[in-house]
Amino acid sequence: MTVGSHNRIEVLHGVNLNALGRRDPEHYGDLTLGEVETKVKRFGRELNLEVTFFQTNHEGEFVERLHRLPDAADGAILNAGAWTHYSYAIRDALEITDLPAVEVHLSDVDSREEWRRRSVFDGLVIAKVAGKGADGYREALELLHERLAR
Ligand code: DQA
Repeated sequence: MTVGSHNRIEVLHGVNLNALGRRDPEHYGDLTLGEVETKVKRFGRELNLEVTFFQTNHEGEFVERLHRLPDAADGAILNAGAWTHYSYAIRDALEITDLPAVEVHLSDVDSREEWRRRSVFDGLVIAKVAGKGADGYREALELLHERLAR
């Protein structure tokens, strides 16, 4: 927690999330990533949180962003896309941050294909919020807000 200023939360989006708006709207809705970020920024303001954003399609860049994250944020929200289901490198990098984190998925990963049910972040994140579209990020911000107020 940063004394005298707002808690800082970084929202990290992984592979293919930059293509929101062109992906199956049944699962992902019709907002672009920019539109999702605008909403999340507003949710953050309502909770007095300073929210920053990062997106990449390169696994190594995602890992390196996580390595630097403790200097830039007090907590993290991750939607790592398909990496969620197999990237132990990203799991290890999240562990290194030692920051409270919440995993978010726009779609209901537990009611889709079998392989989407598994998350490498199991046991590491405070919570997994899935199937609530952009509102899932609000829930994640609320959970982090609570955790950081302790
Ligand atoms: C996703 C779910 C993942 O299974 C998928 O690979 C994505 C997006 C979601 O937000 O619902 O790219 O993380």
